[in-house]
Amino acid sequence: MTTLTILPSGKTFEFSAGANLLQSILDAGEKLVSKCGGEAKCGACHLSVTEGRKGVSKITAAENAKLDTLVGIGSKSRLACQITLLGTEPVTVELLSGI
Ligand code: FES
Repeated sequence: MTTLTILPSGKTFEFSAGANLLQSILDAGEKLVSKCGGEAKCGACHLSVTEGRKGVSKITAAENAKLDTLVGIGSKSRLACQITLLGTEPVTVELLSGI
C-alpha cells in the first residue's frame, strides 16, 4: 500500500498496487469526467502526474496518440483511465479543468 494525493483538494488516501487511477480518483469522491468508458478516446480524464511518476504505469501508444490531440498538454500530462498505480512510491496528481 502507498498513498495517492489528489490536487487541488489535497485529499490523500491509500491504494493497493494494480489499482486504476481513474477509478481510484472516483472512489475518493473526486470528480473526473470519463466520456469513453476508459478507452483513451475522449481525453476527458486528462490530468497531471506531478510526483511519483515512477509509481505509475508507462504511457501506451494509444494514450500518447490521444494526448497529442488535446490542448494544454504538458510533460506531466496523462490520461487517468490508462494509468495503473504500481504501488512502488507515493503518487500526486493534479486534476485539471476546462478541457
Ligand atoms: S476516460 Fe476517455 S480518455 Fe480516459
